[in-house]
Amino acid sequence: MNVKNNVEWVGKVDWELRKFHGNEYSTHRGSTYNSYLVSEGKTVLIDTVWKPYAREFVENLEKKIGLDKIDVIVANHAEPDHSGGLPELMRHIPETPIYCTENGVKSLKGQYHQDWDFRPVKTGDRLDLGNGKEIIFVEMKMLHWPDSMASYLTKDDILFSNDAFGQHYASEFMFNDLVDQAELTAECIKYYANILTPFSPLVEKKIAEVLSLNLPIDIIAPSHGVIWRENPIQIVEKYLAWARDYRENQVTILYDTMWDGTRIMAENIALGIGREDATLNVKLFNIAKSDRNDIITEVFKSRLILVGSPTIGKGITSATAGILEEIEGLRFRNKKAAAFGCYGWSGEAVAKLNAILEKSGFQLVNQGLKCLWNPDGESIRRCIAFGGEIGRS
Ligand code: FEO
Repeated sequence: MNVKNNVEWVGKVDWELRKFHGNEYSTHRGSTYNSYLVSEGKTVLIDTVWKPYAREFVENLEKKIGLDKIDVIVANHAEPDHSGGLPELMRHIPETPIYCTENGVKSLKGQYHQDWDFRPVKTGDRLDLGNGKEIIFVEMKMLHWPDSMASYLTKDDILFSNDAFGQHYASEFMFNDLVDQAELTAECIKYYANILTPFSPLVEKKIAEVLSLNLPIDIIAPSHGVIWRENPIQIVEKYLAWARDYRENQVTILYDTMWDGTRIMAENIALGIGREDATLNVKLFNIAKSDRNDIITEVFKSRLILVGSPTIGKGITSATAGILEEIEGLRFRNKKAAAFGCYGWSGEAVAKLNAILEKSGFQLVNQGLKCLWNPDGESIRRCIAFGGEIGRS
């Protein structure tokens, strides 16, 4: 598929992918592994595909141009969804140089144990392609791995941004202006929330650094999802907004429940919040029944989260512990939180939730709410009042 002039997309659309990073990321709409072929004086392959599609990828390249026509490989990122095609490809063209960062060399060697002809590059290094065109390399350290890098093609003004600005979104259309805009936005924000949140302070700095290079950008071609050709700067602006402790006017209530008591608490707390401030968008999720990554996206959008768990084994439910582990790792900033839960006799869950939420960087608005046994009329009134307090906070 032609991207622009002599740049073609030669990747793989993976319609059936439903879990990514092992089981850590749900991909309801599949994904793509974008690889690009730049055919100028030199022929350059930018990134490959995930290993299960390596043979198909290499066979297609062989049919298309003949593998020995590839002069240079650029490995913008060593994670296996982009480098997984290298071992199969390098079996056929073992002498071909691979341009990547110093950390990319370590990472590729660590994963594939091969001494390929690595050519480490730094920000600002250039590769002459002939025909008056060059590739300029830009290190993207920790966005989102130490080796991450972007490559910029002069004259065509294409930024091959790798993971940055991507989405796990399969489409045969492949350009941002051709796909459903609501689906695209949903996949972009989910991707940022679940992958890039911990690196938000770096995102702002890196975008400023890239913009200071004064490179005109006509197209942003990421390594997942659609290519940004219509107003590509829109996704850069979204990243800047998301990197600045993004919050919508939203409260998200996450809860798990054993015999419905904590669910009843959640619903009545929501009622109290709504009565206090009807403009707040209050959303409820049963943690054990909902997709983890979709919940994380809602946390990302929230000003405040409430986490509820009944007490079990002097602690919290395993589903609650699981999502809180993920939330802690994402290092959200500038968000408030509170805890709640039912108990029968000892009732440790709320104190445990408070400790985890504080450790995870949330500002607790109070010490939480506990209800003994299943909520009765008085307990329900306390939940509604608690919701009112949350709404005011
Ligand atoms: Fe799409 Fe970090 O790999």
